[in-house]
Amino acid sequence: MSIVRSFVWLTFTVFSLQAAAQSSETVSRAADFTLIDHQGKAFNLHYHAQRPAIVLIGHAEGSSDALQAAKALEARNWQGRGLVAALVNPDSQSSRQSSAELARQHDVALPVLMDTAGLIANTYQLSHVGETLVIDPRRWQIVYRGPAIDAGSIHPQLQATVEALLAEQDVTPATVPMLAADPLPDVTHSSTIASYSETIAPLLVEKCADCHRPGGIGPWAMTSHAMIQGFSPMIRETILTRRMPPWHADPEIGEFEHDLSLSTAEQRQVVAWIDAGAPRGDGPDPLAEVAAVDTEWEMGEPDLIVTLPAFDVPATGVLDYQFFEVKNPLDRDVWVKAVQIAPGDRQVLHHAIATFGASSSFEGQVDSGESLLQPQLMTFVPGNETYIYPENTGVYVPADSSFYTQMHYTTYGRETRDETRIGLYFADEAPEHVLQHYSILNLGLEIPPGVAEHEEAAYYQLQRDAVIYALFPHAHYRGRASEFAIRYPDGNEEIVLSVPDYDFNWQRYFQFKDPIEVPAGSMVIHRTTYDNSTANLSNPDSSIAVNFGEQTWEEMLYGGISFRYAEPGENDFEINVEDYLTAVVMGYMDKEMKGQIALSDMPESSRQSLALPFTILDRDKSGGLDFDEFRQLMIQTNMTNERSIMD
Ligand code: HEC
Repeated sequence: MSIVRSFVWLTFTVFSLQAAAQSSETVSRAADFTLIDHQGKAFNLHYHAQRPAIVLIGHAEGSSDALQAAKALEARNWQGRGLVAALVNPDSQSSRQSSAELARQHDVALPVLMDTAGLIANTYQLSHVGETLVIDPRRWQIVYRGPAIDAGSIHPQLQATVEALLAEQDVTPATVPMLAADPLPDVTHSSTIASYSETIAPLLVEKCADCHRPGGIGPWAMTSHAMIQGFSPMIRETILTRRMPPWHADPEIGEFEHDLSLSTAEQRQVVAWIDAGAPRGDGPDPLAEVAAVDTEWEMGEPDLIVTLPAFDVPATGVLDYQFFEVKNPLDRDVWVKAVQIAPGDRQVLHHAIATFGASSSFEGQVDSGESLLQPQLMTFVPGNETYIYPENTGVYVPADSSFYTQMHYTTYGRETRDETRIGLYFADEAPEHVLQHYSILNLGLEIPPGVAEHEEAAYYQLQRDAVIYALFPHAHYRGRASEFAIRYPDGNEEIVLSVPDYDFNWQRYFQFKDPIEVPAGSMVIHRTTYDNSTANLSNPDSSIAVNFGEQTWEEMLYGGISFRYAEPGENDFEINVEDYLTAVVMGYMDKEMKGQIALSDMPESSRQSLALPFTILDRDKSGGLDFDEFRQLMIQTNMTNERSIMD
């Protein structure tokens, strides 16, 4: 008996000594990261800065230890007291579906963060299934590392640590060894470090240097190995947080042109190279060849150059969007086949949306963004500066029109003047199809104060067969996540684009590699989740309910659709305002997305006056108005007056 006891004591001491020896090298800083979970939602660690404690548990599908730990944790109801917990799954063999299935089987509600590249497990030195980290967000310090469970219930040390954090007390970091736990797969392990000259630098040229070059929009230029080495800790951090390269589409949904993102293998390669000290190695330095951007027109001299008003950008501060109108100088109608937007100062122009429409009595700087409801030429973002329209499509620009732009400028510490130009290329012959740009809007959105996740949605129902080329999610500072789905007439719904960590600073059209063919009656649904809480550091004011509006302190649900009709129609080059507004209004008033508007969907104040027209127009007595019937109602009640809808 005593022998057994002393043996146990001995092994325990050995383990403790080992643990102590390890802990001096073990990471204690909780580096920020963003991962997508098994449901496609983004999880950013530092978002939870206001929480009292964060728990991460290592997880792999071969073992149920982590799920049992998660269950034990959930049973404590610490989450009700503000604790945030998640499983980290670096098992590259498992999928979101299988993770979701397992979590369901074990009745675990915690998010399973898919650490596909293994970078988070590697950075946090998570090496065992069930290994549990407790993070103190006050100092971003790991204050507990060890098992979650001990003899069937929560480990006493974990219990003490969490209780102390929930009581806002100071805690001393503790490490408890993982006994008899299964190892996590180490997907980052690689015996060879990639060559700078042959692999790393060419990748940076391809994925980063468009912006990170002299005169580019990036705040520093990738011009040599020494630059990269100096910035390597920051590069590592931006990869872990998904901030760079700035590409926010969920990699598991859809394939897109101009995709800037790094693949899982590329992320591992770059991070492993950085962790090895970012060695120079042999061979030439491809970054030495990265030159300043030449501002020449990529497709040759344009047929028409539209020069926007010069705009003085101050050295510092945040600027509202700027709107410009420039009269079309042409005295003939033209078919545009391609566009390039050439920023005057590419260090300040974050995005620009160019549209055209009837001329107003103004010219120069205007104060309204209504131009977004007009036919569009293109949306500029750095790295996506030209739009060669899909084959056999074009945009018809009539004489007697004006070009309109929405400009988003960011400051960079020096005053500058931007004079952006739009280069238009004309087709010699009319194309078969008109490229259409319509938007989905939710003019009735209302986001309650303080709420961290509030969803709004709207749809645009296509009345004819169509081919969708690109989609554009747009919200303001409270936008947290955004997605587009197609609901086919048979009721099937498919998510075609998801942006789980929406960033106001990076707006863009996502252009499908394979355009999507949809039959008449299909709905393009746009859903956005808004974060009106104080945890959202970009939130201008969490204490107010927020409605639709153009100003950045208001909100938008705006989804751009770039498409063509499958078969050309006679008036495709015009926007039929009645059709358009009927689709827009129906798309957000029809909350249940049934393709019909019932009287109860209408604003309460107007129900009484609309009751009779509703009954008369509901010819098929279905209890609601379909698109054509609702269009009649809109016309009869003068709702197709754009202004009255915006008000
Ligand atoms: C489309 C343009 C663009 C591309 C492509 C791009 N960057 Fe950036 N980068 C920027 C801008 C602009 C900033 C300034 C911060 C911001 O606006 O988000 C930035 C900032 C950074 C920073 C500094 C982060 C900080 O805290 O300010 C690093 C490091 C960085 N980028 C690395 C990269 C790497 C590595 C790649 C390629 C894998 C890359 N970037 C690709 C535009 C770009």
